[in-house]
Amino acid sequence: MADDNWALRGDLLDFTGEPAWGQTQPPEVRWRPDHWVLVRGRHIEAVQAEPPGPEWRRVEHGGRLVLPGLIDTHVHAPQLDVLASYGTELLDWLNDHTFPAEARYADERTAQLGAQRFVKALLRHGTTAALAFSTVHEQATHALFEAAHAQGMRMISGKVLMNRHVPATLQDDVQGAEQACRRLIERWHGTGRCAYAVTPRFAPTSTQAQLTMAAKLLREDPSLYLQSHVAESQAEVQWVRELFPQARSYLDVYASCGLLHRRTVFAHGIWLDDEDRVQLRDAGATLAHSPTSNLFLGSGLFNWRQAHDAGVRVCSASDVGGGTSLNLLRNLAAAYQIQALLGERLTAWSALHSVTLGAAQALCLDGEMGRLEPGCAADITVWDWSHDPVVQHRLSLARGLHERVFAWFMLGDERLLRAAVVAGRVVPREG
Ligand code: GUN
Ligand code: ZN
Repeated sequence: MADDNWALRGDLLDFTGEPAWGQTQPPEVRWRPDHWVLVRGRHIEAVQAEPPGPEWRRVEHGGRLVLPGLIDTHVHAPQLDVLASYGTELLDWLNDHTFPAEARYADERTAQLGAQRFVKALLRHGTTAALAFSTVHEQATHALFEAAHAQGMRMISGKVLMNRHVPATLQDDVQGAEQACRRLIERWHGTGRCAYAVTPRFAPTSTQAQLTMAAKLLREDPSLYLQSHVAESQAEVQWVRELFPQARSYLDVYASCGLLHRRTVFAHGIWLDDEDRVQLRDAGATLAHSPTSNLFLGSGLFNWRQAHDAGVRVCSASDVGGGTSLNLLRNLAAAYQIQALLGERLTAWSALHSVTLGAAQALCLDGEMGRLEPGCAADITVWDWSHDPVVQHRLSLARGLHERVFAWFMLGDERLLRAAVVAGRVVPREG
């Protein structure tokens, strides 16, 4: 149950719109130091400078940074088991590490425990909402929704579709997969804060017939999401070229099947061309940039500026277990460094916007989350500025808010998280 009437004090930071690329003082940054967020039930009722009246229980986080709960737009629930697996690039990493781990989720109890571990881990890392891959298993997908639902979390997920080029124990078929999707949609799409994402793993592991089935589901209910991977590594792109010789590009495999729409989120998109970017922009689809994954697997350097200038929505994501941390601050720090290698500079504002309001807008959920505003769900995170005298010293020398917030996320991580609030409920800290 959510606590009924309470108010949280702290230094509030969120966005009223998308900050312009490269601008360190854009008007869309909303900085409200020493303010109160008033929470009634599951929602934010008001945000104000004056202390609330006596009917509001006060929770003091004065001097701490208060952000909307962070939103991870691409992560794999079963892949905590393969974090930091040594020695491989994408395609071998899938075969050597990931598929064996996901195969263990055929066991119901393993899947249940894994789902609970994953959901709690997200919250401990400051992530209060996610667009997540499950495994190929229907039961494991139920377990993931159940675990998130129990926390009141916004969870968008789906059973992975893959009917070829995977071990036999992980392979589904078009008809069986369609029936499983329909059962899961019926049970979970719109239940509490759960929503269904049709989830073809990536083009190499689905036949054209399976991709066509996925598109049929989307046509029947446009409120469904679509998540997949596109153009992550060069070897993968080459494989797709061989498997789909008729397609103009990797993205075109999906586009020509009817899988590109406003609620489509593709992870990566490193190796796209101009025409692909126009197609993504016209569909209003999203790229989930996954910086620690791209570095860890050696997939390539995502040109965020190029996608941005082409009008493509870009969010940031962990892509655990290709990514090395569920914490989105760590991923933003990596994103900055990737842009630096490309000769670009990612501001703290573009970075944080991409895991708060920008992510909520990409998911068509900005009325519900991504900002600290009356009427939104009370999904809130509270952070210390530092846990270390060196960082504290550096922050004390910051000239202005951008410099301070930038150094905070470059040097920070989940250890700075003091509290996570999901739909008005303070998540208990473990251990
Ligand atoms: N491409 C297909 N499956 C996966 C996956 O599990 N992780 C990543 N990073 N890329 C993929
Ligand atoms: Zn992924």
